[in-house]
Amino acid sequence: MVDASSLNRPAPQTIDLLLSRRSGSAKAMTGPGPNPEELRVILQAGARVPDHKKLFPWRFIVFEGEGRKRMGQMLGDILCAEGDVSDERVAMERERFRRAPVVIGVVSRARENIPIPMWEQELSAGAVCQNVLLAAHALGYVANWITEWYAYDPRVKEKLGLKPDERIAGFIYIGKPGEPLEERVRPDLDSLVTYF
Ligand SMILES: Cc1cc2nc3c(=O)[nH]c(=O)nc-3n(C[C@H](O)[C@H](O)[C@H](O)COP(=O)(O)O)c2cc1C
Repeated sequence: MVDASSLNRPAPQTIDLLLSRRSGSAKAMTGPGPNPEELRVILQAGARVPDHKKLFPWRFIVFEGEGRKRMGQMLGDILCAEGDVSDERVAMERERFRRAPVVIGVVSRARENIPIPMWEQELSAGAVCQNVLLAAHALGYVANWITEWYAYDPRVKEKLGLKPDERIAGFIYIGKPGEPLEERVRPDLDSLVTYF
């Protein structure tokens, strides 16, 4: 718990981060990744998001060390079982989670038939992903929020232990940038803002 007297301390430097934040490609990531204390901070930041009625409609799955290898193995095995898949593709899947030193899976636990709409619970899971990205960047890492095919694959979800109503909001890859970051196209703000 944060002491009430230290809530919302001004941190103007945060604006610099928000206005310069750039995802780093998972493919180009290297180590080292966050240490255990930093990882804890990143997860705490992730869990500190707006959330209507304090439902905490999300949870985390952390992949690091050998866990990344086991996840890749699982992805490769799932594709192999399909039959018509090249050896290169299977080899690529086996290495997928080893692109970054740490991957955080954010799982949405949004429930239907409760007073808070699913949409709002899912938005909260999106906010978790963004807080994880920002916290990782604030600590000097790059991060990449991706879903790719395995976030939606029912076999992967089952093997990861997701319940039928749980969904992957994102896999956040975290590491050091292996190549220089380049700015990408950003929207023309004026075309998106109206004043009522
Ligand atoms: C829900 C969600 C899923 C995404 N999935 C992928 C993905 O599977 N592959 C990908 O290349 N980018 C994906 N992205 C986009 C990247 O996270 C990133 O935002 C994009 O490369 C733009 O870079 P920026 O974050 O620096 O603006 C996804 C973004 C969101 C919000």
